[in-house]
Amino acid sequence: MRVQVVIVGSGPAGLLLGQLLHLSGIEAVILEHRSKDHVLGRIRAGVLEQGAVEMLERAKVASRLHAEGLIHSGFDVLFGGIRHRIDLRGLAGKNVIVYGQTEITRDLMDAREAAGARTVYETDWVSIHDFDADRPTVRYCKDGRETEIACDFIAGCDGFHGVCRRSIPASAISCFERVYPFGWLGVLSDTPPISEELIYVNHERGFALCSMRSRTRSRYYVQCTLSEQVDEWPDERFWDELRLRLDTTSAEKLVTGPSIEKSIAPLRSFVAEPMRFGRLFLAGDAAHIVPPTGAKGLNLAASDVHYLSIALAEYYASGAQQGLDTYSERALKRVWQAERFSWWMTHLLHRFPEAGAFGDKVQRAELQYLVGSNAARISLAENYVGLPY
Ligand code: APR
Ligand code: PHB
Repeated sequence: MRVQVVIVGSGPAGLLLGQLLHLSGIEAVILEHRSKDHVLGRIRAGVLEQGAVEMLERAKVASRLHAEGLIHSGFDVLFGGIRHRIDLRGLAGKNVIVYGQTEITRDLMDAREAAGARTVYETDWVSIHDFDADRPTVRYCKDGRETEIACDFIAGCDGFHGVCRRSIPASAISCFERVYPFGWLGVLSDTPPISEELIYVNHERGFALCSMRSRTRSRYYVQCTLSEQVDEWPDERFWDELRLRLDTTSAEKLVTGPSIEKSIAPLRSFVAEPMRFGRLFLAGDAAHIVPPTGAKGLNLAASDVHYLSIALAEYYASGAQQGLDTYSERALKRVWQAERFSWWMTHLLHRFPEAGAFGDKVQRAELQYLVGSNAARISLAENYVGLPY
């Protein structure tokens, strides 16, 4: 079997790449370790930059996003019991759209099926070979049968724990990492959101975030320690803790209900450089992780795919190599901007156990500077809505 591109992983990065390649007449197969239902069952982020929205439009999968997505022109930062609005539209001239990653995944899967493009789910033992030479191959096992696919290029869209990045010789890759000493305990509930816009909370008891998926579905998070387990957090305890971290007016508005999903996610910053090795290209979480504070993970996956899809389309149209040769450099430039922003926002809003009284005072000064300085708010807003591609 032979295809032009093998995409490993059917998260947002792999699916979006597959769809854009399909629209450019490039044949790709996606290999996914999990089942379709498992991929669709994952609850992940929900804030889209305009750049990512434009990509989904180009991929012709944006109609439901425009019908159901919620346009947000600002968000609140709450500290010292007071909410301060960050006017994204006024400060940076752009909005973001709140639309769940699960829905994007579904829209992309539907488009892929309608196009008759191939995804092989529940593949075991995916391994990639000869990607430093002209004729790479990908092997996998499905239902006990081994298959080998020859291809021109491999797109490693297989997330942080995937096989592609790990297949690059250690001497050819550098990794940069920061692991944070806390996690986010997240709850999804079919209750109306507390507010029209997101609220990011800095509180002595720890960070909290009030987000949403729709007008009837809320997503909330509280900072927790890494040793905590989900079953230590019955719903009542979660709602009580969230309420304690809110201002009085918001706390009174909080509508609680049974959780429909509850999980703990650790926070990490990670970048692997370069993002290309021979005929293997890494995209999305396979190459980098950001803490969720800046809502950048999905948007970064989209910007990688933007550069990679254009480079591959140019290559197949005219043989031009330049886009492929500059992919890593261009993608990483954006990646590091998002890494810096997510790291900064994480430091601004969380309780760091090691910060001490001095660190806490500096953090409060930084928050006060932010709400008092137009320049600081513009910087936050520009980074949040996303820098140009
Ligand atoms: N073989 C095949 N598939 C694999 C393998 C493997 N060895 N390892 C992992 N995968 C699959 C995973 O099951 C998953 O479906 O690759 C996919 C990677 O998807 P994501 O983790 O969602 O990563 P990505 O597409 O880069 O998305 C980036 O979306 O999920 C968020 O936090 C993420 O916001 C970030 C963005
Ligand atoms: C979410 O809705 O899950 C969400 C929103 C904003 C973030 C992180 C997560 O910064």
